[in-house]
Amino acid sequence: MHVTLRQLSVFHAVARHRSFTRAAEELHLSQPAVSMQVKQLEEHVGLPLFEHLGKKIYLTEAGSEVFRCSRAIAQQLAETEESIAELKGVEGGQLAVAVASTVNYFAPRLLAGFSQRYPGVRISLSVTNREGLLKRLDGNETDVVLMGQPPAQRELVAEPFMLNPLVVIAPPDHPLTRAQGIPLTRLQKETFLLRERGSGTRIAMERFFAEQGISPYTGMEMNTNEAIKQGVEAGLGLGIVSLHTVALELELRRLAVLHVEAFPIERQWYVVHRQGKRLSRAAQAFRSYVLNEAGALHGETRGGGL
Ligand code: PGA
Repeated sequence: MHVTLRQLSVFHAVARHRSFTRAAEELHLSQPAVSMQVKQLEEHVGLPLFEHLGKKIYLTEAGSEVFRCSRAIAQQLAETEESIAELKGVEGGQLAVAVASTVNYFAPRLLAGFSQRYPGVRISLSVTNREGLLKRLDGNETDVVLMGQPPAQRELVAEPFMLNPLVVIAPPDHPLTRAQGIPLTRLQKETFLLRERGSGTRIAMERFFAEQGISPYTGMEMNTNEAIKQGVEAGLGLGIVSLHTVALELELRRLAVLHVEAFPIERQWYVVHRQGKRLSRAAQAFRSYVLNEAGALHGETRGGGL
């Protein structure tokens, strides 16, 4: 097969996102350019790689095979990049990292691993919501950002590194905790606590409700994940949060995840920097480290979900 690396990497992005539009956004290409690369790859392979069912696209059996191959190559390339950074040496330097408040539930573990590998790099970490992160990127105040998918129209390079499932949480004594396959319409009778404006979690939740055509009651607005969790525990309403924020509470049975149809809402975390920014060696090494190690940290495959 005379496939090119370009075709494979474009296909890989479409397969990860299960969307031609989102792949085009991530790669800063037009949608026809993405479709063309995939079509050429399909011609080389001699079989269709995607099938369209309604608005969704799925990998065919051949597509799954090619996806396995493209994932292995992407991983290998990222690892090679990392080894080369090491050869060039990342002895010192400063690194400014900014992360979404929701990412901060696992970011310190990533930073700890990175610091162990590159003990000479001095790191500053700032934590804020999505809107704050976009401002920081606009103002060139940070090297690398870990956040939800940034808006496509900004001049940013954004690479997905881990799944971010959003789940419905309830206090453990809520009657719905015993139910399976809860219909979405049932949520209309519930009150939901809301994150502040500017939060990526809130945007995702509102978009999801609008897409599904449901409008549950909205309760208090709170500006941290911790406040939402405490509020839900106290019975002020239900919440929609990233699964990464509630590991401890689920283990201690202080909160429960409800089995609602169409959940979890599947999002991804992205490592982001400004397009055209010359990343220092330390920043390059951090970017590679996140792309390679974050999945392993959470027992998830980077950009998986297929
Ligand atoms: P946030 O998380 O809700 O803390 O802004 C970022 C995101 O989910 O995009």
